[in-house]
Amino acid sequence: MIDLLKTRRSIRKYMDKEIEKEKINTILKAALLAPTSMGKRSWEFITVTDRNLIEKLSTARKMGSQFLKGAPLVIVVVGNPEVTDAYIEDASIASTLIQVTTHSIGLGSCWCQVRNRDRNENETTEDFIKALLNIPENLKVECMIGIGYPDEKRPAYTDENLPYNKLHNNKY
Ligand SMILES: Cc1cc2nc3c(=O)[nH]c(=O)nc-3n(C[C@H](O)[C@H](O)[C@H](O)COP(=O)(O)O)c2cc1C
Repeated sequence: MIDLLKTRRSIRKYMDKEIEKEKINTILKAALLAPTSMGKRSWEFITVTDRNLIEKLSTARKMGSQFLKGAPLVIVVVGNPEVTDAYIEDASIASTLIQVTTHSIGLGSCWCQVRNRDRNENETTEDFIKALLNIPENLKVECMIGIGYPDEKRPAYTDENLPYNKLHNNKY
């Protein structure tokens, strides 16, 4: 596990290669296995493989979402605030498991922030995505995760460059 975490890096360039159905299913299983507050499973996941839709999703932010354009798969993670007030935590944990599992099967991924972001002066990133993908009004979009076979190499983290100054013992 620690090796997986050290070698996982955000990958924003992807090969023009479809992801096997079996691998997509493995990633989705990981999402559904994520722990949730009181076991309420407040999340839902939308897999987007339609190139036309993915291209549109890549315009959801002024900056920060363009990398999605080359991804063969985007998973949109949504949460339901009516189910639990911990829906952001639930969705974030599932998103992390998606990213780590993706890496464990030889794929690369990158998170694209949606919550609290704007597409332009008149439209939030979330509203744009909800309209495009017919997402019900009551659901909140947490993030989009671009996934594909990596077409860039990023160095692994090492023990030496970890921010140990973030750690505190007993009292801050
Ligand atoms: C909550 C969150 C939001 C992020 N939003 C974006 C984003 O909108 N666009 C992007 O290109 N990368 C985004 N990233 C990726 C981060 O930039 C990346 O994780 C960070 O620079 C550390 O690099 P690493 O993932 O390779 O360790 C996000 C990551 C997290 C955890």
